Amino acid sequence: MADTPKTAKLTIADKEFELPVLSPTAGPDVIDIRKLYAQADVFTYDPGFTSTASCDSTITFIDGDKGELLHRGYPIDQLAEKSHFLEVCYLLLYGELPSATELEDFEALVTKHTMLHEQMVMFFRGFRRDAHPMAIMTGVVGAMSAFYHDSTDISDPHQREVASIRLIAKMPTIAAWAYKFSIGQPFVYPRNDLDYASNFLRMCFAVPAEDYEVNPILSRAMDRIFTLHADHEQNASTSTVRLASSSGANPFACIAAGIACLWGPAHGGANQACLEMLREIGTVDRIPEFIERAKDKSDPFRLMGFGHRVYKNFDPRAKVMKQSADEVLGLLGIENNPTLQVAMELERLALEDPYFKEKKLYPNVDFYSGIILDAMGFPTAMFTPIFALARTVGWISQWKEMIADPQNKIGRPRQLYIGENARDYTDVEQR
Ligand code: CMC
Repeated sequence: MADTPKTAKLTIADKEFELPVLSPTAGPDVIDIRKLYAQADVFTYDPGFTSTASCDSTITFIDGDKGELLHRGYPIDQLAEKSHFLEVCYLLLYGELPSATELEDFEALVTKHTMLHEQMVMFFRGFRRDAHPMAIMTGVVGAMSAFYHDSTDISDPHQREVASIRLIAKMPTIAAWAYKFSIGQPFVYPRNDLDYASNFLRMCFAVPAEDYEVNPILSRAMDRIFTLHADHEQNASTSTVRLASSSGANPFACIAAGIACLWGPAHGGANQACLEMLREIGTVDRIPEFIERAKDKSDPFRLMGFGHRVYKNFDPRAKVMKQSADEVLGLLGIENNPTLQVAMELERLALEDPYFKEKKLYPNVDFYSGIILDAMGFPTAMFTPIFALARTVGWISQWKEMIADPQNKIGRPRQLYIGENARDYTDVEQR
C-alpha cells in the first residue's frame, strides 16, 4: 500500500489549511507553501531565509549538526583526499564521477579554453592600479558577455555548456591577471602542459625574466583549496546567482553577481578578514582580549572564520584545511609561523569558552585557508578571488540545474510592509 502523502495543517483564525509536506532524500521535511497566498491570503516571513528552502537541488547536501558535506553523495573529505578539482568539477556539473576517458576529455577541454580574448588586456588596464582584485574580477567577468557573444543565449543548451567551460577555464587567468595588475607585473599567459592548479600558481608567480618552478606539494595544496571551496548548496552568493539568472540574465552577468556577493566579510571575504584579525591579535597573550570583544554585544567585532549558518559542528572543510596548513608550512619550513600559533590557540580557547560552546560556533573553511595562502606567497587581497575562482563551478552547476528545471520562474520574494499607508502629497510650502 502506498504511503499517505504527509501534510501540515495551518490554522488562521477559524480557517484550516492543509499544506503538502515534501520529503527530501536527506535533511528535514519541507512544507510546500507555494499555494499558500492564493488559498489563505497570507505570506510567510523569513528574513535571511533561515527556515526557507528556495529550490530543490541534487548537487550538494550539508548536515550541519553532523558537520557533513556531500557533493552528489560523495563526502568532501574523501574528495579532498582522493580526487582533484577538475574531477570534482565534472562531478558537480554532470552528476557522476567521470570514467578515465571522460575525465581526460574534460580536462583537455577546460585546458584549451584558458586564454582570454586579447582585447580583455585593455579592459584590465583600465582599472586603477590599487583596485581590489575582487573589483577587477566582478568587472571582468561581467564584461565577458561583451567578448563571448556566442555563449550568452541561455535557452540554447550548447551555449550554456560553452559558457560553463569558458568560465571554469578562464577564471584562474582572470584572478591571476587581477593580481599581476595590482603589483605592476606583466600578465603571464596560461600554459597547456600544466594542470589547473599549477597553471594558476605559475600565472601568479612567474615573471618574464624568471619562470616559476611549480612545487607539486604546493600545487596539490592549491588544488585541495579549490576542491574544498567548489560548492556549498544555497549560500548567499549561489542564491544570488540563481536569483540573477531567474530573470533570464546571461551567464557572465550572473556569475559576476555571485562574485560581488561573495566579496562581503560575512561570506567569502571572511578569509581575508580572518588573516588580518590573526595578524592584529599578533601574539597568543592577546587572544583573551579578542575573545572578550567577540562576546561583547556592544562591540561589533566577531571572530572571523568562526560560526556558520548551517554548521553547528566542525565545518568538515576546516578539518582538511588545518591538515593542509600543517603540510604546507612543514614543506616551507615555517612550522613556527606566529599566525598559525595564534590561530591554533584561538581555536582551542574559543572551543572551551561557554559562549562559543552554547552558540555552537566552530572554525569554518576560512579559518585556516588564509594561513596556507599567505605561506604560498599570496597577499590577503587575493584570498577571496581564489575562493571565487573555485566556487565558479558550484555557481555554474546550480545555474545549469535551475535553467533546466521546468519549474524555473523569476525569483520574486514578498515583504512585510511596515511603512506609511497611502497619504496625500503636500506642496513644499505647506511642509
Ligand atoms: N563571533 C562572535 N559571535 C558570533 C560569531 C562570531 N564569529 N558568529 C555568530 N556569533 C553569535 C552572534 O552574535 C549571535 O549571537 P546572539 O544569538 O547572542 O545574537 C549568534 O552567534 C548567532 O549568530 P548569527 O549572526 O545570528 O548567525 P548567522 O547564521 O546569521 O551568521 C555567520 C553566520 C557566518 C555570518 C556568522 O557566524 C559570522 O559572522 N561569522 C564570522 C564571519 C565568517 O567567518 N564568515 C564565513 C562563513 S563560512 C564561508 C562562507 O560562507 O563564505
